[in-house]
Amino acid sequence: MPHSQPGSWWRDAVIYQVYPRSFADSDGDGVGDIDGIRARLGHLAGLGVDAIWMSPWYPSPMADAGYDVADFRDIDPVFGTLAKAEALIAEAHELGIRAIVDIVPNHVSSEHVWFRKALADPGAPERDLFWFRPGRGKHGDEMPTDWVGEFGGTTWTRTTNPDGTPGDWYLHLFTPEQPDLNWDHPAVRADFEDILRFWFDRGVDGIRIDSAALLIKDRALPPVVEGRPHPFHDLDEVHEVYRAWRRVSDGYRDRALIGEVWLPEVERFAGYLRADELHAAFNFDFLGCAWDAGPMRECIDRTLDAHRAVGAPPTWVLSNHDVTRHVTRYGRTTTTFSFDDNLDGTPVDLELGTRRARAAALLSLSLPGATYVYQGEELGLWENENIPPDRMRDPMYARRGHSRDGCRVPLPWSGDEPPFGFSTAEPWLPQPREWKDRTVQAQTGDPSSMLELYRSAIALRKAEPGLHEPPMQWLASAPGVLAYTRGAAFACVLNLSPAAVALPAHRSVLLTSGPLDGDRLPPDTAVWLRLAT
Ligand code: GLC
Repeated sequence: MPHSQPGSWWRDAVIYQVYPRSFADSDGDGVGDIDGIRARLGHLAGLGVDAIWMSPWYPSPMADAGYDVADFRDIDPVFGTLAKAEALIAEAHELGIRAIVDIVPNHVSSEHVWFRKALADPGAPERDLFWFRPGRGKHGDEMPTDWVGEFGGTTWTRTTNPDGTPGDWYLHLFTPEQPDLNWDHPAVRADFEDILRFWFDRGVDGIRIDSAALLIKDRALPPVVEGRPHPFHDLDEVHEVYRAWRRVSDGYRDRALIGEVWLPEVERFAGYLRADELHAAFNFDFLGCAWDAGPMRECIDRTLDAHRAVGAPPTWVLSNHDVTRHVTRYGRTTTTFSFDDNLDGTPVDLELGTRRARAAALLSLSLPGATYVYQGEELGLWENENIPPDRMRDPMYARRGHSRDGCRVPLPWSGDEPPFGFSTAEPWLPQPREWKDRTVQAQTGDPSSMLELYRSAIALRKAEPGLHEPPMQWLASAPGVLAYTRGAAFACVLNLSPAAVALPAHRSVLLTSGPLDGDRLPPDTAVWLRLAT
């Protein structure tokens, strides 16, 4: 398999997130599928990515777009078959692209065979694989705790006994269709280790671990109290799980475990990246950071320090299937992201957002570590904020009033109107008509397009020795400007100030995110420079 980077590939790879429902539809049902991905692998090879991560594609009732998994060892018919998944992995490998699958260990679908058995019979041994508890109050009709779910809303649902009487409650940190597994139970641990082997044996190169910090719960089910240890966020015992997973992955060559770890404290976050645990984790600190030089520089320093301390590679993430697309975020007055601040529908300057997103691409692709690209980011797609409420599918919408559907809209490939070559049918979520200029076809060959910027940047990154050599060094720069070198001959300068600034001494300009103003760098623009050595 012709890989550009031997060994420890995840340390500085460009990893592209495929959201299978919305990548490409091969069979005309309006939903993307595995054959659609296979047919479009050329786009990913041309982009130059080192790996693809597929969001869940397993059998699922789709209560949470596939993050409610009924069987981790098969593929949902809407996406294809296991044989097609194996063919995709093999075809990607032939193109030098590694494959990562998404494993969701915190919960399963309520249609998973374990939960169906647990629900059918209060005496079933499968009950112990979940969190069934009697209710509080005289009649057991009060929830066992008042914990608020990760999507908002309650976290317990009452069951009905086979004789029709009200029964125990079960825990679900997300929707009622996603019962939480009991990670204290050895059968849960054994099954997931076997699932890892199942996919490693099929050639996958990495595992993305969903909600990685939530698995362990305080068995006493205490209330959430400010200043006291949280009952289900980031409990120390979760590290034992990942040490065991690391032993599994170490039994194979070059496999990576990549955690979805949202934690406010960077030291706690880095704890997941110790030498005998996960290989990498998503940098949500960077994703949520304001488009502002001070906070951005602090975030970069904080990231580098925390990862250095544990010897893990930093990662740089601008968007994914859960957050508002960054063209939209960076075009708003408030440029930070957090689920608690719902900025939906606030004014957006898409031209400004696009200019900043172009500069952010050169930043995230030249910092030391691995860079994640969410599908459509290379096309400069913005959030679709005009999805009619009756078309919304995200279960978060009903609970928090914010929908993640706007970043999950099917990709525009070609043509002048929806479905833009994505499908022959009406796509499962509507595409903005204005995307006619953002299709792969429209952007290909246009040197000023987002797609050609990503293609050039990724190709330069591959060829540039400085971008594979840690560390980076900050250069002295004007207020509001971030400038750093990678090795002796490469520098990146990003202007976040409102005025054009002079460039540092250089031999040539390798790439810019937008036109220069003579020899000055305009606001919201980044440049890659060749330095004289
Ligand atoms: C993760 C996923 C998100 C999903 C949730 C529950 O945060 O990225 O899409 O809804 O976990 O599995």
